[in-house]
Amino acid sequence: MLKPIKLANKNFLSSLDLSKEEVFHILDLSNNFKKNKKFSIDLNSKVLGLIFDKSSTRTRVSFQVAMTRLGGTTIDLNPITSQIGRGEPIKDTARVLSRYCDVMAIRTFDHSDLEEYAKWSTKPVINALTDLEHPCQALADFLTIHEEFLDFKDVILTFIGDGNNVANSLILCGALLGVEVRIACPKGYEPNSLVIKKAYEIYKNKDLLKITNDPIIAVQGANVLYTDVWSSMGEEDKKAEKDKFFNGFTIDNDLLSKAEKDAIVLHCLPAYRSKEITDEVFESKKNRIFEQAENRLHAQQALLSCLLH
Ligand code: CP
Ligand code: NVA
Repeated sequence: MLKPIKLANKNFLSSLDLSKEEVFHILDLSNNFKKNKKFSIDLNSKVLGLIFDKSSTRTRVSFQVAMTRLGGTTIDLNPITSQIGRGEPIKDTARVLSRYCDVMAIRTFDHSDLEEYAKWSTKPVINALTDLEHPCQALADFLTIHEEFLDFKDVILTFIGDGNNVANSLILCGALLGVEVRIACPKGYEPNSLVIKKAYEIYKNKDLLKITNDPIIAVQGANVLYTDVWSSMGEEDKKAEKDKFFNGFTIDNDLLSKAEKDAIVLHCLPAYRSKEITDEVFESKKNRIFEQAENRLHAQQALLSCLLH
């Protein structure tokens, strides 16, 4: 029977905190959780603390449900009503909370703040999204892709839009798994340069990662079209300017028709119809967006059961 394994790293701050083998194991385990196969795992009332400095529906709820299903529980620490919002230093918060909680999931702005939590916490810390990465999302995304194509071999994943946290984690996880990843974004909105550098170091075949400013070229031969908001949380003041730059980067029927016949459409959600995706495409039979959202739960059950092994 497939069982959770002990992960080499204590934390999951980046897609690169897992090895290729660990990602495959988590995907297999997620699949078993999804099929409701029984494991001899009971988190025995272990506690996951959630600190969310940004809004969330999927990540927060899927973590809460995942812990409940595993026999554990969660505490949602609202930064406004805790001392976090009044400026208590991260290093003090982390040292206190790791004496109460068994694992922490943190959504914040600066990735360095997440790293500061991890530095001072004696318990595992999970990245629930930072400005730099969204690695839990990438696990669910590759689970969804694997369910559809049964293998990553010959799959081409094209992300169209902002070179943001979601794109960065897709690139890094794609590099680990050896999946061809293409990013099409307007000039100046490319993914993080260090992420690209690290990904190229991992890919055996360097041609498998392409960054382009041409969405039409990027979708040719693609099996997965993926998009995300043009302006992420924290970029509200840039929205009007970015909307102009991203003209031509909408996944519409025209762009979709240039991809492979079997192409599916993914979106991490929340979505802005008529910006990054048209309502027609969003609601079309090509969409696997709600399978993808469901898979957040299964992937996080697998991740938690390994981190708390
Ligand atoms: N995709 C995702 O992380 O959604 P939430 O912002 O609702 O958590
Ligand atoms: N890039 C988006 C993802 C939301 C899940 C953001 O950071 O707001």
